[in-house]
Amino acid sequence: MRLLVTGALGHIGSKLIREYAKRQDIELIRIFDNISTQRYCSLFNLPQKRGLRYEFIEAGIDDKKALKRAMQKIDVVIHLAAITDAPSTIATPKLTHKVNFEGTKNVLMAAIDANVKKFLFPSTTSVYGEAEGLVDENSPENMYKPASPYAATKLKAEKFILKTAKAKGFNANVLRMGTIFGTSIGMRFHTAINKFCWLAVMNKPLTVWDSALNSMRPYLGLNDCIRAFYFLEKHGKPGELYNVVTRNYSMKNIIETIKQFVPNVQIQITKSPLLNQKPYEVGNEKIKKIGFEFKDTLSGGIRATLVLMKGVRRF
Ligand SMILES: NC(=O)c1ccc[n+]([C@@H]2O[C@H](COP(=O)([O-])OP(=O)(O)OC[C@H]3O[C@@H](n4cnc5c(N)ncnc54)[C@H](O)[C@@H]3O)[C@@H](O)[C@H]2O)c1
Repeated sequence: MRLLVTGALGHIGSKLIREYAKRQDIELIRIFDNISTQRYCSLFNLPQKRGLRYEFIEAGIDDKKALKRAMQKIDVVIHLAAITDAPSTIATPKLTHKVNFEGTKNVLMAAIDANVKKFLFPSTTSVYGEAEGLVDENSPENMYKPASPYAATKLKAEKFILKTAKAKGFNANVLRMGTIFGTSIGMRFHTAINKFCWLAVMNKPLTVWDSALNSMRPYLGLNDCIRAFYFLEKHGKPGELYNVVTRNYSMKNIIETIKQFVPNVQIQITKSPLLNQKPYEVGNEKIKKIGFEFKDTLSGGIRATLVLMKGVRRF
C-alpha cells in the first residue's frame, strides 16, 4: 500500500504515519506538508522497517504541480493539511477559505486525475455548531450553525468532495471528527482538552464558560481517530460521511478527570461564551453499525498528556 498524507507533520499526522508504519502491507509513506507550523520534530526518528520508504515533499496544497507529483503511484490519500485553530480563523476568513476549501479542491482533483483508490477527508463535528439535543449525519442541514470560518470551509469542502466523488465514481469518505485528545510528537495545544492539561501543569486557571459546565461536546481520542481512518479505508462505503466521536463530554467531566491527576487545579468561571466550549452533542451510531468500536478513554488521554510534562513546574 502506498500512502500520501498531506499535513502529516501535525497533531494527527505525526502519530498516524508512525502507526501506519506498523502495517504489513505498507511500502511507501509520502509526507506532504509546507511546515507552516514548524513541526520539524514530527520527522524525527521515524520507525525504520525493511521494505518501507518515507518520502517528504515540502510544499503547500495551493501548488498543483507539487500535488500532481505527490499523487504518482499512490493508493490511499489522507488529506489532513488545513488551517486548524478555529477561533483564529475568525480574523482570517479569506486565507482559511483558500487553504481549507480551495486547497482541498486541489488535493481531491489531483487524486482523481491520478486514479487514487481511496480518499479520506477529516472534517469536523463543529460543522453542526451549537445545536439542541443530539445531532447526527441525518440531521437536516438547515439545523447546522458553523460558528467559524474553519467550520464553514470544512462544511463546504466535505460537500464538494462528496458531490465530485459521486459524479466521477471516485471512492471517498468524509470523517466528521470530534476534538482530538491524546498525545503525539507533533501535538498542538489550541484544542480544549490539551490546552486545559497545559494550563493545569503550569498552575494557571482553566477558564470555563459557565453555560458549558454541564452541557456536552464531542471529543475523539487520537488512537480511535487513527483506527477510524484505517477502518474506513477498508469498510467505508464509497461516498459516505461518518461522525467519528469517542464520546460527548461536559467541561465538568474534563475538569474532574484533570483533578484526578492535578488535585489543586484552579478554575475560573466566565460569563462570556468561548468558541471552543459551545455545546452540542453528536451521535456516533452510523460508524458503529458498520463494525467500528471506540476504545479510547478520557482519563487515559489526559493522563498521557500530563505525564509528557511531568518534569516541568511553573516558576
Ligand atoms: N485536532 C483536532 O481536534 C481535529 C478535529 C477535527 C478535525 N481535524 C482535522 O484533522 C486535520 C489534521 O488536524 P491536526 O490537529 O493534526 O492539525 P495540525 O494543525 O496539528 O496539523 C496540520 C498540518 O498541516 C500543515 N499545513 C497547514 N497548511 C498547509 C498547506 N497550505 N499546505 C500543506 N500543509 C499545510 C501544517 O504545517 C501542519 O503540519 C485537519 O484537517 C483538521 O481540520 C482535527
